[in-house]
Amino acid sequence: MTITVALVVTGSIAAYKAPLVARLLKKAGVRVIPIMTRSAEQFVGRATLSGLTGEPVRCDPFGEGAAGELHVELGRIADVVAVVPATADFIARLAQGRADDLATATCLCADAPVVLAPAMHPRMWTHPATQRNVALLVGDGRAELIGPALGEVASGDEGPGRMSEPEAITHEILARASRREGAAARAARRDLVGKHVVVSAGPSVEDVDPVRFIGNRSTGKMGFAVAARAAARGARVTLVSGPVALPTPAGVERIDVRGALAMKAALWGALGPELAHADALVMTAAVGDYRPKSVSATKLKRDESSVVLELVPNPDLLAEIGAARKTARPVLVGFAVETADDEALIRSARGKLRAKGVDFVVANSASDSFGRDDNRAFFVDSHSAEPTGVLSKPALADRVLDRVRTALESPT
Ligand code: CTP
Repeated sequence: MTITVALVVTGSIAAYKAPLVARLLKKAGVRVIPIMTRSAEQFVGRATLSGLTGEPVRCDPFGEGAAGELHVELGRIADVVAVVPATADFIARLAQGRADDLATATCLCADAPVVLAPAMHPRMWTHPATQRNVALLVGDGRAELIGPALGEVASGDEGPGRMSEPEAITHEILARASRREGAAARAARRDLVGKHVVVSAGPSVEDVDPVRFIGNRSTGKMGFAVAARAAARGARVTLVSGPVALPTPAGVERIDVRGALAMKAALWGALGPELAHADALVMTAAVGDYRPKSVSATKLKRDESSVVLELVPNPDLLAEIGAARKTARPVLVGFAVETADDEALIRSARGKLRAKGVDFVVANSASDSFGRDDNRAFFVDSHSAEPTGVLSKPALADRVLDRVRTALESPT
């Protein structure tokens, strides 16, 4: 598959190096679509870029035979959008989310990584406004930097702001393009066909009376991501979910429950007698450890005295399943959530691994996971604790399922 790079050239003296990047990318077999801002034309000729790339230079969102919405089309087909050079002004416009020319509109609309190779005088680079803009873009996760390097700039002054060399920029662009290709290939995998994966998700909520309950802050995003990815990879998926505000992923059978006891019944129903009906159980649910001893049939009335709510322990659903498992199937995955530091988190996860008899535990801290779209976790098994780094929940779901698939390859 040919890689496509949208090469955005903005108006800096370093623009003369952009044709070198275009040439190196072409040599690597990449399709390069040049996009120029108006001021870039002061520094490099259209003919140079179009001659090197074999593509017309795009500049005007409404010109050059544009059919439909050019920025949308470019944003869709680019595997990487590379801004070489990126001026202080362009970075400022991107940080504001502006889309007042084709170059900014394409960056804003890109589905792919946007990489910036800044080039400017060191005083412009170190200006708090530029640093604030860069921090905003990087913090939003919507742009990555290549450089700038420390060295001499056009004026003869020295400092940070010199654009990285074309070879280094090309190397970084190609690395991002192949990472994206790898991610696309992973997304297209169908390696769980014929497997039945049971997933629990969300909170359990324990009713106190017809209008009140005890719950927790789990939103279900992690479990729904595991269910969605397992289904996309070909598995038959049963998702047992506490009350959450999420749509059912495509191809997933969903069973809605409230309390831990209902979740237990639904899980055993899906796993079958002797756990024989499932290949794996991924237990992401935040199961409440206690429930009210009794549930009032009518709404409890207010009075001035304090109230003591008697709670009784819920069964540990995963530990019961772990204890009932007589073979290596189903593969059992626990999640562990803590508010402690990494070391204590891993120690506690190892305790849960043993106590619940599971194959591995995905350990995460509440602040890194609850309600967020990304997560940072450790895969903890009996002999290692592998950090995942920060990943989107679907990407972490894929990593969990990779481990499940590996475990399924071992004998029962
Ligand atoms: N779990 C369960 N049944 C419970 C409590 C937890 O099946 N009653 C499962 C969770 O789904 C998760 C794992 O056990 O996969 C660990 O849950 P966690 O809340 O981190 O730990 P607990 O065992 O509840 O221990 P503690 O709350 O004391 O940390």
